[in-house]
Amino acid sequence: MRLSKFFLPTLKETPADAAIASHQLMLRAGMMRQESAGIYSWLPLGFRVLKKVEQIVREEQDRAGAIEMLMPTIQPAELWRESGRYDDYGDEMLRIRDRHDRELLYGPTNEEMLTSIFRNFCKSYKELPKLLYHIQWKFRDERRPRFGVMRGREFLMKDTYSFDLTEEDAIKSYNKMFVAYLNTFARMGLKAFPMKAETGPIGGDLSHEFIILAENGESEVFCHRDLLEIPAPGLDVDFNGDLQGIVDERTALYAATEDVHDAEAFAAIPDDKKVSARGIEVGQVFYFGTKYSEPMKAKVSHPQNGEVPVHMGSYGIGVSRIVGGLIEAFNDDAGIIWPRSVAPFDVGILSMRPGDDATDAACEDVYCKLKAAGLDPLYDDTKSSAGAKFSQMDLIGLPDQIIIGPRGLKQGVVEVKDRASGERVELSTDDAVAEIIRRHSQAVL
Ligand SMILES: Nc1ncnc2c1ncn2[C@@H]1O[C@H](COP(=O)(O)OP(=O)(O)OP(=O)(O)O)[C@@H](O)[C@H]1O
Ligand SMILES: [Mg+2]
Repeated sequence: MRLSKFFLPTLKETPADAAIASHQLMLRAGMMRQESAGIYSWLPLGFRVLKKVEQIVREEQDRAGAIEMLMPTIQPAELWRESGRYDDYGDEMLRIRDRHDRELLYGPTNEEMLTSIFRNFCKSYKELPKLLYHIQWKFRDERRPRFGVMRGREFLMKDTYSFDLTEEDAIKSYNKMFVAYLNTFARMGLKAFPMKAETGPIGGDLSHEFIILAENGESEVFCHRDLLEIPAPGLDVDFNGDLQGIVDERTALYAATEDVHDAEAFAAIPDDKKVSARGIEVGQVFYFGTKYSEPMKAKVSHPQNGEVPVHMGSYGIGVSRIVGGLIEAFNDDAGIIWPRSVAPFDVGILSMRPGDDATDAACEDVYCKLKAAGLDPLYDDTKSSAGAKFSQMDLIGLPDQIIIGPRGLKQGVVEVKDRASGERVELSTDDAVAEIIRRHSQAVL
């Protein structure tokens, strides 16, 4: 992409109403614009990151055996009356009436809808287990939308639903999602720790939140320091095998959110291993048995026992919240520092003198070679000053930059800058291209 043709409305000033780094930087980097409290347009740069995050989430769901589908944002109220949640959900639910005065709502989650789809089509234990998911916008009329996309009212969520014959089987589905989540966040460069959590309006009594530690996180969390050192399971996990060991290793150590914190158990941890911190909830997994299948009569034939309600779980990831969470985790005074796996472009090319024949030719050459290698460069071919180009490129946080100007070209070199370390090296144009390709291929998980 040539910057002269792109749409990148970056801001020089930090917007006054943005309280935390990620919110400020998303506005300054031209990633999004607020349309109403907690409702945002995703501008092209932000949209690219959102799509990258979404794709990683999708790939890891697919790897774990979940099947993608798409349910609507608007749901009929009757479904929620069946589960009893139409009244329970309260003011967070956005209720709508259509022209025929039928009651609808903008979905805050989809347990009821998928339970109803399941009961419609699946009647036998032979159809089980099933894991179905979608990635769809949700609406929750939050009392205090804040921190930009981190606590929006409209937000993008991946939600998966599991259907099993028995509790024992349902725990196997729970474990699949648990392990898939560890890999999902690791692929984005994030360390997300599973912590025991309250179940809230979703229900059930087994639940973990996945938390990334961040000073500005809204959740207060407590855990054993050794939990922070356990690496992600890795993409070669066999999802058809026994995952209990992987889950046990990560749930044996104390880790809990504020709501279910057990001060006594925490006190028993040696002082140098106690972690009490703030964090961002990027995902949550629930097992809730027959909470929905019973009232909604989602039953299957049992090999011995007639008809039984299915055991269910649900598993959410805050796709749009993660974009803010990533920036909280990766930024410095100059701006955002994207991990390579989620960067909006792979590399920036900065032309120090557009219009100079040698510079234009070298920039074109590098741009075409990177594209031919399957990378996605952003080529700053504009007439802005060098200083403005440097600060804008640092602000939007592409992992690598190639700086090309007449002075270097006379010596046969261009400059390659690593955004994270600030390290700069001078290389020939071909070596610069090779170096960027090498860095990129190393980063791909
Ligand atoms: N208002 C929101 N804005 C952005 N993302 C959200 C919001 N509410 C929930 N999410 C994301 O969706 C995921 C699944 O939803 P879940 O029902 O577990 O949310 P929740 O526990 O109500 O979230 P919170 O406690 O932050 O309000 C959460 O883990 C979070 O990452
Ligand atoms: Mg939650």
